[in-house]
Amino acid sequence: MSRLIVVSNRVSAPKDPAAGSAGGLAMALSAALRKYDGLWFGWSGETVEQFTGELNIEDRAGVTVATVDLEPQDVDEYYNGYANKTLWPLFHHRVDLTAYERSYGEGYERTNRRFAEVLQPLIQPDDIIWIHDYHMIPMARDLRRLGVKNRIGFFLHTPWPARQLLVTLPHHRRLVESMFYFDLIGFHTHEWLGLFERYVEVEARGRVSPDHVIEAFGRRVQCGVFPIGIDVDGFLAARDSVLGGKTYDRMAASAAFRSMIVGVDRLDYSKGLEQRMLGFEQFLEDNPAMRGEVFLLQVTPISRDDVDTYQDIRGRLDALAGRINGAYADMDWQPIRYLNRTFRRDQLAGLYRAAKVGLVTPLRDGMNLVAKEYVAAQNPEDPGVLILSRFAGAAEQMGEALLVNPLSREELSEAIKTALTMPLEERIRKWKALMQVVRDTDVGIWRDSYVGALKKVAIRADDEV
Ligand code: G6P
Repeated sequence: MSRLIVVSNRVSAPKDPAAGSAGGLAMALSAALRKYDGLWFGWSGETVEQFTGELNIEDRAGVTVATVDLEPQDVDEYYNGYANKTLWPLFHHRVDLTAYERSYGEGYERTNRRFAEVLQPLIQPDDIIWIHDYHMIPMARDLRRLGVKNRIGFFLHTPWPARQLLVTLPHHRRLVESMFYFDLIGFHTHEWLGLFERYVEVEARGRVSPDHVIEAFGRRVQCGVFPIGIDVDGFLAARDSVLGGKTYDRMAASAAFRSMIVGVDRLDYSKGLEQRMLGFEQFLEDNPAMRGEVFLLQVTPISRDDVDTYQDIRGRLDALAGRINGAYADMDWQPIRYLNRTFRRDQLAGLYRAAKVGLVTPLRDGMNLVAKEYVAAQNPEDPGVLILSRFAGAAEQMGEALLVNPLSREELSEAIKTALTMPLEERIRKWKALMQVVRDTDVGIWRDSYVGALKKVAIRADDEV
């Protein structure tokens, strides 16, 4: 049987899956791997003075994890630099926040080569390799140069940017060309795939077939849409666990008959948190009678805090939450509870279940798994309402949510009012449709359909066109 080797920058398989508090992607990969005989390879999150390539191998909750330490310069140029200051903002339509430093690109290529060199000796002839996200786009090319002939797939968890934005990146063609060393490229939505195809047609004079085989740069690659989801059974078990139940009870008591709106996001400018708070403020302005009846619990763990744009948004959110609370709070009520911390998954599940509204309003998001977790956590007899940004990948599947433009505070205000006053029957109807989507895109289905497609790819990347 062939093994599955999953590769991603962030490797965070929790020792106890219910305790996991990592981002949605790492949780999804850990759930995806648990049922496979495989290996998860990536950065340890640690630094060493000089790169040695020495592997740390351990078993975490049934998943074999192999990680490698990086040099501080790699972390600066590859992770903080090219991944987080260049590609992340660019892929999230924030050219204004994108840094175009040559050293970042060099560090990115060097670190990818290092990853490839460390991984290559671990690869057995029948292994399937599945590389994830924007940190590791050139890695297939590096592995091929080292003679690796295995099937190598790639999955992008962020949006793919419009061509007009991508061409602002120096060496954009080199980056895209390196994607043609994969056998299969997966996106979460048709929208991201369409933008990728358009870039290739216009900038590389490529050809796109109706079944998404793309020819360009003298090579060919199969592409496809595979929407990621959550581990539904695992999440329901977390919701129904002792701690999930306790958290629900605690929040129900703390809400004291007020309606709770919940938001859970990494502290990132792509998540639309400022606009969300301003939308909630607008709701308080528009509905004075509902003040004191409702509050927003915004859980926002600090993220990528070495990057200046993240420090800036953090400062702005602190000020905004403080200003809104100062302006509207009463002696026994505060409109926004803003928390910079993480919670365990079972606690989060309890929180979601206690919330009448899930507010998921990124300005741009590859998928967004909080939207799916919120739906899964609901009580089928009295479910809450999901408000979802139309700019999240999840909106392509979750059309039964209240879809909003997160940039419009009036739209946000109206959606909050609609959600809080929605009749039970309509809430149940919407929830059932959304829950079906959550089940249909379960992380196991996502994994199996992607890996199945990778095994079936007829044209291999090592065949020259
Ligand atoms: C997004 C990215 C992931 C990343 C996660 C957390 O979901 O798509 O690749 O792991 O954010 O970000 P971090 O920089 O902490 O790994």
